[in-house]
Amino acid sequence: MHKLKTFIIDSDENSRELIQNYANELECLEISDVFNSIENAYEHIIKEVPNLVIVDITKNQPETLKLIEKITTQKQQIKFVVTALSYDTDSIIKAMRAGAREFLPKPIIKDDFVTTINKLNEQTYGREKTTNCKVITIFSNKGGIGKTSISTNLALEIANITKEKVALVDMNFQLGDVATFMDIKPSFDISYVVKNLDGTDESFLESTLEHYKDTNLYILADPPYMEQAKDITPEQITKLFDALREKFSYVIVDTSNTFDGKTITVLDNTDFIMLVTIVNLPAIRNCQRCLDIFERLGYDKDKTKIVINRYMENDEVTVEDVENALNKKIYWKIPNNYFTIMSSINKGLPASYINPSSNIAQCYRELATVLSDNIYKQKVAKKIVRDPLINFKNLING
Ligand SMILES: Nc1ncnc2c1ncn2[C@@H]1O[C@H](COP(=O)(O)OP(=O)(O)O)[C@@H](O)[C@H]1O
Ligand SMILES: [Mg+2]
Repeated sequence: MHKLKTFIIDSDENSRELIQNYANELECLEISDVFNSIENAYEHIIKEVPNLVIVDITKNQPETLKLIEKITTQKQQIKFVVTALSYDTDSIIKAMRAGAREFLPKPIIKDDFVTTINKLNEQTYGREKTTNCKVITIFSNKGGIGKTSISTNLALEIANITKEKVALVDMNFQLGDVATFMDIKPSFDISYVVKNLDGTDESFLESTLEHYKDTNLYILADPPYMEQAKDITPEQITKLFDALREKFSYVIVDTSNTFDGKTITVLDNTDFIMLVTIVNLPAIRNCQRCLDIFERLGYDKDKTKIVINRYMENDEVTVEDVENALNKKIYWKIPNNYFTIMSSINKGLPASYINPSSNIAQCYRELATVLSDNIYKQKVAKKIVRDPLINFKNLING
């Protein structure tokens, strides 16, 4: 089992002992060193690059935060958990800006400690996935860029091509429009589902997600009232993903354009982020910012795929320009096709139902094929590594 190599920094001996006691009960945590100040720990952190640093900011807060920022700028993979005896929102925000990932108020409650460490462990080593499901999230920190158009069309095409069960989930919790794009009036929404999900009813998800026409696509819409969205917690979101992974082969997620706790939980639970941009300077700058944030969040570079939407051959800014600016290859280009998309949105039907031979319907189909093929290949490769004998037999038997 992977272990999180952890440093504890606290000037108070009792606090250090308490954290060590909690840590002893956690299999995924290994306390490598203990310090009484971040100044004393600094050189060791830079040299040994632990996975985790749990540091108290009750005393010398500005100096401590400055050093946290200095370390996270150099070593982005180190995750900081800050603790404090007295604090206000302002100091939590400052700590997060300095690069801290989590905040634990003192006295530290054991349950909070365990939840936080488990979350960071998952972010570092990935969830122990027992299912083969892949979660694909369509994201951009700008609105009106094409997220909902892409997620709805992609989900339908993957369901049609793979014939496997696909869930399309609207995690634009406050202003979702998947239901409008697909012209459905679902009986249940995400707020109902997360509240009533207890894992005992096997058919719960199938009966609450809206089955789309005669396809293998199932849709989970956003809640009708904004207030309901506020009550949804990151823990509930993770639980929902766990349940979806059990029942579906693919989960396609539409998101909002804010980087709040909920969206980060969605991204943490995602296998592939399709980061959407259009070819203009402000959008590309925003895209750069997203890539920076993803790096800070410790995401693998391959997790994010850049998708250009509304692409035009004769654009002034070229694909090469975008690739140079982002220092990353473009994964996919979706053509600009105003008429098909407008007609599709107005009629509440995916592009392939409006005009299957249009360049945009074909493009969504090809994207779905390439994505699902790659995922399928990964699944096969994983199986061969895990179970060489069985697959050797399969190979011999054709
Ligand atoms: N490939 C495309 N070609 C032309 N127009 C598009 C394309 N994709 C999206 N649009 C337009 O952009 C608008 C915003 O798309 P939408 O999917 O709602 O974005 P988001 O979900 O990011 O806010 C739509 O109303 C549609 O007119
Ligand atoms: Mg949208």
